[in-house]
Amino acid sequence: MNSYKIAAIPGDGIGKEVIAAGVEVLQALAARYGGFKLDFESFDWGSDYYRKHGVMMPENGRETLKSFDAIYFGAVGAPDVPDHVTLWGLRLAICQPFDQYANVRPTRILPGIEGPLRNVAAKDLDWVIVRENSEGEYAGQGGRSHRGLPEEVATEVSIFTRAGVTRIMRFAFEVARSRPRKLLTVVTKSNAQRHGMVMWDEIAAEVAADYPDVTWDKMLVDAMTMRMTLKPQSLDTIVATNLHADILSDLAAALAGSLGIAPTANLNPERRFPSMFEPIHGSAFDITGKGIANPVGTFWTATMMLEHLGEKPAAERLMRAIERVTADPLLHTPDLGGSATTRQVTDAVIGAIHGDN
Ligand code: NAI
Ligand code: MG
Repeated sequence: MNSYKIAAIPGDGIGKEVIAAGVEVLQALAARYGGFKLDFESFDWGSDYYRKHGVMMPENGRETLKSFDAIYFGAVGAPDVPDHVTLWGLRLAICQPFDQYANVRPTRILPGIEGPLRNVAAKDLDWVIVRENSEGEYAGQGGRSHRGLPEEVATEVSIFTRAGVTRIMRFAFEVARSRPRKLLTVVTKSNAQRHGMVMWDEIAAEVAADYPDVTWDKMLVDAMTMRMTLKPQSLDTIVATNLHADILSDLAAALAGSLGIAPTANLNPERRFPSMFEPIHGSAFDITGKGIANPVGTFWTATMMLEHLGEKPAAERLMRAIERVTADPLLHTPDLGGSATTRQVTDAVIGAIHGDN
């Protein structure tokens, strides 16, 4: 029997609620089908930990995580701790040193869910966004001088390396090749950003030569928002920089019905380090503690984790169970216009797992 060690890091706000639900669902899945076993260990890192210890995670935190097969992450962010502290202190403190350079964000309109776009059916919107996750605009380069003075200056420098761009392009072309349409859109802004983005375009063309079976095109990021909204059918796999894909994937999540549904994987494709799986939403303090957080993004995320672990049939079963539940409007949480609770949705997915054969 395959056995996997999973580090659960619920983090802050609704992260705690949805990860608890996700662990329950995964345990139910493992129990129902056998064949594999999941050993969860939970870590209380995040803003509560920060208030007690002045850091978001202990100094040896990453060392501890290295022995795990995967990380199941909730969200970070608290009203009384600056967002750059929570993000850099925990989420990016894991992503960056673990070289999780490929951030993968599938987007689909799940059964029973109505997207905000008129005339766009489920079959019209089926994308995978590949986000460069290690450099670009979020490389962390820059600084501030003359703080508080009128001449204060701040720089935020984007970093694009040939190695970094090449590996994400290869990864994106591989994803595109693995999907039926074999279609890739490379997002860029090489009209205005004439150094990094021009190199990005050149490398895309170089890598494309190795993938003659993949059809690809290029879009400026601003025009891309219109194409996603007006012609979603024309897109399949999408690759973009750290910042551009961050923004586009929130748009994608909204177009597919709700931020509460969208999953993501932060992958170290070479598997030198554990990869991290998380819903794309944040800690949502506006609904924390109300028991109404949509856990579907966290469940879908779990299917990506199972696939990464090599448990594809289990991943497919879990996806079937999720889709059976989203198909029922009575099981929609308030973000989807319903009145179901996290508890009810979780129980329903567990029920669907038991009912599936
Ligand atoms: P958010 O994603 O937490 O919430 C945006 C809106 O969507 C809110 O109205 C929220 O109630 C709703 N929402 C999000 N997830 C939901 C779910 N599962 N079910 C139902 N409704 C859901 O983003 P916001 O408000 O901009 O940020 C709140 C905090 O989260 C901030 O501290 C921010 O820095 C942090 N954050 C952390 C992320 C991460 O850990 N990966 C990602 C995004 C934000
Ligand atoms: Mg974001």
